[in-house]
Amino acid sequence: MDRILIEGGTPLHGTLAISGSKNAVLPLMVAGLLTDQPVILRGTPRLADTRTLASVLQELGAEVEEFGSGPGEGVRVHAHDLTSVRAPYELVSKMRASFWVLGPLLARARKAEVSLPGGCAIGTRPVDLYLTGLAKMGADIAVEGGYVIAAARDGLKGARLDLPFVSVGATHVLLMVATLAEGTTIITNAASEPEIVDVGRCLQALGAQIDGLGTRTIHISGVAQLGGADHTVSRDRIEAGAYALAVAASGGSVDLTGITGEELGALLPAMRLAGVQVEENTTHTQPALRVSGPDARPNATPVTTEPYPGFATDLQAPFMGLMCRANGVSRIRETIFENRFMHVQELARLGADISLEGDTAIVTGVDQLYGAPVMATDLRASVTLVIAGLAARGTTTINRVYHLDRGYERIEEKLSACGAKIWREKI
Ligand code: EPZ
Repeated sequence: MDRILIEGGTPLHGTLAISGSKNAVLPLMVAGLLTDQPVILRGTPRLADTRTLASVLQELGAEVEEFGSGPGEGVRVHAHDLTSVRAPYELVSKMRASFWVLGPLLARARKAEVSLPGGCAIGTRPVDLYLTGLAKMGADIAVEGGYVIAAARDGLKGARLDLPFVSVGATHVLLMVATLAEGTTIITNAASEPEIVDVGRCLQALGAQIDGLGTRTIHISGVAQLGGADHTVSRDRIEAGAYALAVAASGGSVDLTGITGEELGALLPAMRLAGVQVEENTTHTQPALRVSGPDARPNATPVTTEPYPGFATDLQAPFMGLMCRANGVSRIRETIFENRFMHVQELARLGADISLEGDTAIVTGVDQLYGAPVMATDLRASVTLVIAGLAARGTTTINRVYHLDRGYERIEEKLSACGAKIWREKI
């Protein structure tokens, strides 16, 4: 097992390239199961999560190959035959997105046996919306022995799917299934996250008929089969947000390349309120943002997580990492997941002053954080500890960094190149 050590207190300077989006590439790889033609995905990140998903797809009979290196790298998914419709517990329990194979298996093979999912322990994370939606499209569904057993002997039929609240995963799966269902499907209260739009565009390139991507209502006219596609994955707005917050917390000035201010969404005004400068920088060959940390402590800034275009839940913990040293009290409210505050007790080890009132963390900024041993509890909690560790005085040791490796490509390399004192140790 590895651990990461950080000697905090060094401002960051330089250029940092943002990788392809984890939360786009995972559903894109799953979408590769919808067709017997190759789906080529370019600009993909190399992460523990993409490797885990590749194993799931291979278990089902798909060929999954990484190709190239650097900016030209990617993944090719070719599911010419589905040799199994069973996604086993051992693989699916590692990562929630593996559960999403349920949709393509059902759409293409008309049956599926998929273990109930695992993933970050940030709430109960049920799958009722997926199952209700698929049942409305004509699937027979049972849950037996920890597996969802689904069958659609006569194929799936288009339906009106009114989701009671926004779910990214349910929207991904129902959208994928609807592309091959007979007739028209309308999804209301659909997720409009950029990752949904990315997947939808790739499905369109495969031949799917979809309208309304990026809005709350998506119309899909089913087609008999899909073809192949060559698709470039969007940049990771959540990774970009974490690095922007790392610069804000450490001070200095870093150009994040491959990302625009628009892609940072609701994080951008929140960072500006906090006193962080974020400007488009046109001197690079690709879009870039110059992030410059405030000279003094950041301003206390309240945020509330919401579905897109609101403040992303995946940036709640990293933003708290910045607010730990803010001047004043910040109220940070989490409305998407009921248990996404596990970073609070770890931040306290570094000297942060945070109390919880229901779904709200009350962060009273302190003048200084101090390095300490901490434990990464989930993916976004772990990057928060990196952000706080970079801002702290002394050495922070982050244990259980496998969480970090699920979602951040070469994190110590990227930050070291900007002057951070961060390194990995095998223990
Ligand atoms: C996706 O998870 C992301 N995962 C999460 O990122 C992200 O935090 C989340 O969307 C919200 O933006 C990937 O893209 C791989 P949801 P997902 O369904 O799809 C409840 C990260 O750190 N719900 O939008 O699982 C659910 O419990 C990860 O990269 C039901 O009740 O999230 C939650 O409270 C973590 N029933 C809310 O909806 C259902 O059937 C939103 O979850 C489905 C969801």
